[in-house]
Amino acid sequence: MRPGVFVSFEGSEGCGKSTQIQEIRSLLEARGRSCLATREPGGTALGEVIRNLLKHAPEGRGMCPEAELLLFAASRAQLVREIIRPALDAGTWVLADRFHDSSLVYQGMARGLGLEPVRRINGFALGACRPDVTFLLDMDAAAAWERARAVTRKMGREDRMESEPAAFYETVRQGYLKLAAEDPERVVVVPADRPLEVIRDEIWQTLTRRFDGLSG
Ligand code: TMP
Repeated sequence: MRPGVFVSFEGSEGCGKSTQIQEIRSLLEARGRSCLATREPGGTALGEVIRNLLKHAPEGRGMCPEAELLLFAASRAQLVREIIRPALDAGTWVLADRFHDSSLVYQGMARGLGLEPVRRINGFALGACRPDVTFLLDMDAAAAWERARAVTRKMGREDRMESEPAAFYETVRQGYLKLAAEDPERVVVVPADRPLEVIRDEIWQTLTRRFDGLSG
C-alpha cells in the first residue's frame, strides 16, 4: 500500500471539478496533509504542450481519434512518472482533475474506439497507477456544456474538445454513469447541480469515512 492517497475527479466539462478540488485541498491542508492538484491533459511541461495541441492549436484540427487517444495517454504517462508517483511515494494526497476514466469515456465510448483498446493503452501508459477513489460529478450534459462554453468564451479561445454536437456530451455523461455502475466501490457519483458547499461536504464525508484520521 502506497503512503499517499490518490483521488480523481471526473465528469463533463463545466461540472465543477476544479472548484471541488480547490475546496477539498483546503480542507486537507487545514488538517496538515500535504496535497497536490493535477490537471489533464497537462500538469508537466510536456503535458501542457500536448494540452495545447489537443484543445487549441490549429494543427490539432482534423486529428483522428486514435491520435487523440495516444496524445492523452502520452500526457498522462509523463504526469504519472514525473509528478503523481513521486508525490504518492512521499505520502502526499494527489487530487487529479481527470485521469484514466476520461479516456475510457471520451475516446473509448464517445469517439467510439471501444473500451478494450483504451484499457490496453492506459495499461501501457500508467502501469498499475490508479486512483484509490474517484468522484464523478454528474449533471445534465447540456447545462454543463453551457457552463464550460461560457468560461471558454470569456477566455476568447476556441476549444476543439468543446465543439462537438450535443449527443457527444450526452454519451459522455451516460458513459461515466456506466463506469460508475460497474465499479461502485471506487467511483462515487455526486450530483453536481447543487450548491458548491453541499457537494463539497458530501465528498468530504466519503473521504473521512474511507481514510483514517481525517475527521476532527
Ligand atoms: P478540461 O481540462 O477543460 O476538462 O479539458 C479537457 C478536455 O479533454 C475535456 O474536453 C475532456 C477531454 N479529455 C479526453 O477526451 N480524454 C482524456 O483522457 C482527458 C484527460 C480529457
